[in-house]
Amino acid sequence: MKVPRALAALSVAWLAVFGRIQAVTLEVKEGNATCIEVELSASFSISYNTSGGNRTAQLALPDSAAAVAGGSSCGTAESAAVLLAAFGPGHTLGLVFSTRGNVYNVSLLTLQYNLSDASVFPEANRSGVVTVVSGPVGIWAAINTTYRCVSPLAIGVGEATATLSDVRLQAFMPGNDLSPEETVCAADQNSTTAPPTTTPSTTAPPTTTAAPAPAPAPGTPVRGSYTVNDNNGTLCLLAQMGLQLNVSYFSRTQNKTVQQLLNLNPNHTSSSGSCEASSASLILTQEQTTTLNFTFTMNTTAKKYHLSGISLLADWSDMSGALSASNTSLDYLRSTLGHSYMCNAEQTLLVVPAFSLNTFRLQVQPFGVTTDQFSTAEECQMDQDQMLIPIIVGAALAGLVLIVLVAYLIGRKRSHAGYQTI
Ligand SMILES: *[C@@H]1O[C@H](CO)[C@@H](O)[C@H](O)[C@H]1NC(C)=O
Ligand SMILES: *[C@@H]1O[C@H](CO)[C@@H](O)[C@H](O)[C@H]1NC(C)=O
Ligand SMILES: *[C@@H]1O[C@H](CO)[C@@H](O)[C@H](O)[C@H]1NC(C)=O
Ligand SMILES: *[C@@H]1O[C@H](CO)[C@@H](O)[C@H](O)[C@H]1NC(C)=O
Ligand SMILES: *[C@@H]1O[C@H](CO)[C@@H](O)[C@H](O)[C@H]1NC(C)=O
Ligand SMILES: *[C@@H]1O[C@H](CO)[C@@H](O)[C@H](O)[C@H]1NC(C)=O
Ligand SMILES: *[C@@H]1O[C@H](CO)[C@@H](O)[C@H](O)[C@H]1NC(C)=O
Ligand SMILES: *[C@@H]1O[C@H](CO)[C@@H](O)[C@H](O)[C@H]1NC(C)=O
Ligand SMILES: *[C@@H]1O[C@H](CO)[C@@H](O)[C@H](O)[C@H]1NC(C)=O
Ligand SMILES: *[C@@H]1O[C@H](CO)[C@@H](O)[C@H](O)[C@H]1NC(C)=O
Ligand SMILES: *[C@@H]1O[C@H](CO)[C@@H](O)[C@H](O)[C@H]1NC(C)=O
Repeated sequence: MKVPRALAALSVAWLAVFGRIQAVTLEVKEGNATCIEVELSASFSISYNTSGGNRTAQLALPDSAAAVAGGSSCGTAESAAVLLAAFGPGHTLGLVFSTRGNVYNVSLLTLQYNLSDASVFPEANRSGVVTVVSGPVGIWAAINTTYRCVSPLAIGVGEATATLSDVRLQAFMPGNDLSPEETVCAADQNSTTAPPTTTPSTTAPPTTTAAPAPAPAPGTPVRGSYTVNDNNGTLCLLAQMGLQLNVSYFSRTQNKTVQQLLNLNPNHTSSSGSCEASSASLILTQEQTTTLNFTFTMNTTAKKYHLSGISLLADWSDMSGALSASNTSLDYLRSTLGHSYMCNAEQTLLVVPAFSLNTFRLQVQPFGVTTDQFSTAEECQMDQDQMLIPIIVGAALAGLVLIVLVAYLIGRKRSHAGYQTI
């Protein structure tokens, strides 16, 4: 449920004129260490029922809002990181953060509002607290960088719309202050009025190029070489492949769902990941607008591995919201420990209905890497079938030659015999 951006901007402007919206700073700490810091302006437009019909209440996050220790958490291996801010009589705003590879994101937003607060919800025909939860929010940034988005972002959440603006935030913080390196949201990069990025960075340069322009047929993707090192800095995963994303999403400019093919350009793609005994991951990031994560799983008893998961996080300028697609129950690229997997033929890996991945000239080895070279390959069925064609053609040709030869010899013998009878 997305409110058009123009409307969102309008409601922010309206609230700003009436002086009800202000930037608020919120912090979650563990001991002395800050793990989440959020600066933002937030307003909520909430529809509710009265005996006389439906009404809409406007509510802004006041600067008295504060993180509540009870509901907030820095997160652990098992639980997400949460910022829960309380304001007024029983209203709360929650941001739930998760991290995957070299990216963290707001995986959902929660809003709790108290219909008994008559100053905000006059004549509500219900009382008590209502809690609503959003879908994916589209806020994500490279780890160890600050997410920045001056442009308003409207998030549909139950019967309400939350509009966030002037956002600077970071979760899973390495230090106590917001990192100077920033990940700038796509909306700010396109907007001509947004201030330019002020902090150049070496590790995570903010994207200057806009997301991929719609190109009807991008052709065959260039083959890239990607590697992952383990914690000791030892090479542990090798991959070479050309990758083409096939994504359908709702286009802002065309106001409809479109199908887009995007080739990963290896020159603009960085790789990272991890290697463990029974699982390995390869994370490819293209210009902070596209993150592709491959998970390989090893069956240690059978000594077989396969590609078990693919996830995609895409925030292209034409998307009405960031797209997050993931499937962890895949069974592709099956091979045996000590071997690499190879498929020169084009393969289509279906991930979810809205996203599939086409691979070209692929070779991967996620386990058992001992040198910087691939081990002997196990080839996909399609390659084996293609290899059969020259064999069959060759065998047919050899058979033909043999037949011609035999016919010739027989013919020669006959004509020879003919001479003798004369
Ligand atoms: C937190 O800071 C105080 C004062 O700066 C210090 O005494 C205390 O040891 C610190 N605690 C931790 C867990 O670092
Ligand atoms: C208002 O009441 C109608 C009818 O009972 C219901 O469908 C709707 O969800 C209610 N709206 C809110 C905001 O509670
Ligand atoms: C509140 O009002 C709506 C219509 O505005 C009605 O459908 C609903 O039943 C009412 N709820 C209560 C609890 O009175
Ligand atoms: C909801 O608001 C009412 C009236 O202001 C207050 O009495 C009540 O404690 C609030 N509920 C919660 C859960 O804070
Ligand atoms: C983030 O920063 C921490 C502490 O400085 C560092 O250990 C970690 O490797 C960094 N992570 C990335 C992905 O740069
Ligand atoms: C990393 O190095 C440590 C100590 O040198 C060793 O015990 C460990 O097995 C190594 N891990 C890997 C994944 O190679
Ligand atoms: C992209 O996906 C759509 C829908 O799944 C499919 O019809 C189309 O053929 C795919 N295109 C390519 C080039 O794979
Ligand atoms: C988008 O399409 C919907 C339904 O087709 C229409 O109501 C709406 O006005 C369109 N919005 C824009 C910005 O064109
Ligand atoms: C990648 O970079 C190389 C050398 O810098 C260049 O020759 C090549 O054309 C680039 N490829 C793409 C797809 O941009
Ligand atoms: C591993 O492979 C063995 C033999 O093929 C099979 O019985 C077992 O269920 C597999 N384990 C997992 C976790 O898939
Ligand atoms: C995930 O992949 C499996 C196997 O290809 C498929 O059956 C399943 O429908 C996919 N899940 C989703 C959510 O698309």
